[in-house]
Amino acid sequence: MTIILKIQGLRKGAKQIRQAAAILRGGGIVVFPTETVYGIGADALNPDACRRIYSIKGRAGDNPLIVHVSSMEMAETVARIPERYFGTMRRIWPAPLTIIVKAKPIVPKVVTGGLDTIAIRMPDSEVALSLIRESGVPIAAPSANISSKPSSTRASHAIKYFYGKVDAIMDSGRSKFGLESTVIDLKKFTILRPGSYTVDQVQKAFGKRPKVTSQSRAISDSRSRPSSPGMKYRHYSPEKPIFLFTGDPRALPAASESFRGEFTFIGSRESCRAMRGTAKNSIALGSRRDPGRMASMLFDALIALDGMESRFAIIEQFKEEGIGLAMMNRIRKACAHKYFSDERGLSRRVREIS
Ligand code: TXA
Ligand code: MG
Repeated sequence: MTIILKIQGLRKGAKQIRQAAAILRGGGIVVFPTETVYGIGADALNPDACRRIYSIKGRAGDNPLIVHVSSMEMAETVARIPERYFGTMRRIWPAPLTIIVKAKPIVPKVVTGGLDTIAIRMPDSEVALSLIRESGVPIAAPSANISSKPSSTRASHAIKYFYGKVDAIMDSGRSKFGLESTVIDLKKFTILRPGSYTVDQVQKAFGKRPKVTSQSRAISDSRSRPSSPGMKYRHYSPEKPIFLFTGDPRALPAASESFRGEFTFIGSRESCRAMRGTAKNSIALGSRRDPGRMASMLFDALIALDGMESRFAIIEQFKEEGIGLAMMNRIRKACAHKYFSDERGLSRRVREIS
């Protein structure tokens, strides 16, 4: 049985947090909110509980989990944070930045996917922090979605994925960022997954610019070995095929004209307006002037897409700067590299799915 724990205002949520913490301590599975996306959590020091996360998500065993902590002291119980970065991490956290560092032996192998490193972060969410504190243990939690599906940015998404399969789902409304945390390998000072903490923010906090590989941008490069296990799996894919338009934005209505009335368009409010009359329907992410808002609505749109009447979807591309880097990483994966730049390209793509 799954209980739904609705939280409106932290003080009112105290009882629900105690309840969720008790479930976690007892080896149960709790979906909880963070500032990025909802996570599906278990006591990180309980291997059986962590194993259940993999089976509920349908997640490959070599794709390790992020461990969430509520203090630097708790972080040090499971991870070796290099001394030269300790002060910086204390200053940055809580934040949507996950670091890859050496794991301590206490961490079960199931959490790290057998690696000797661990992904760790302190979420910037009062509900999440209270839950970790109240549990008294670090919480291992991947994003709350079935593997290959878009991550949950609302409790209703997690309910759709996991009702009946987890012990509790906490509901505190929409996630602030709506895209997962940035994952950085501190040793190589390389971004493994762009996320809600921007490259500029990393540079400012650490005083040096991290490397951003084309792999982390999800520009396919089949020759190189993925440095983050998660990078090799299918991701963020709606049921409906979705094509990324890579041409001049002004040319999109003409490029899609021969499929008039057949597809859903996903893009900025401005582009949705331009596509009115060509698309069957559209999902506006927000104004182009507000990239943060657009980013926070992306997973919501990808999940909503499957309920829309249309044969396929077209999404526009965004500038790969600021939060746009993380957005384009998710979009490329959601499209599974199905791109087009003109009318002929789109026809070919549609023939491939028919
Ligand atoms: O915002 C977030 O990060 C959310 C919330 C719940 O905190 N969590 C999340 O977890 O997105 P997940 O499991 O969906 O993504 C974790 C990523 C995966 O790509 C995984 O392969 C990578 O981090 N990762 C975990 N441990 C690693 C390690 N030791 N070395 C390299 N990559 C690692
Ligand atoms: Mg995930």
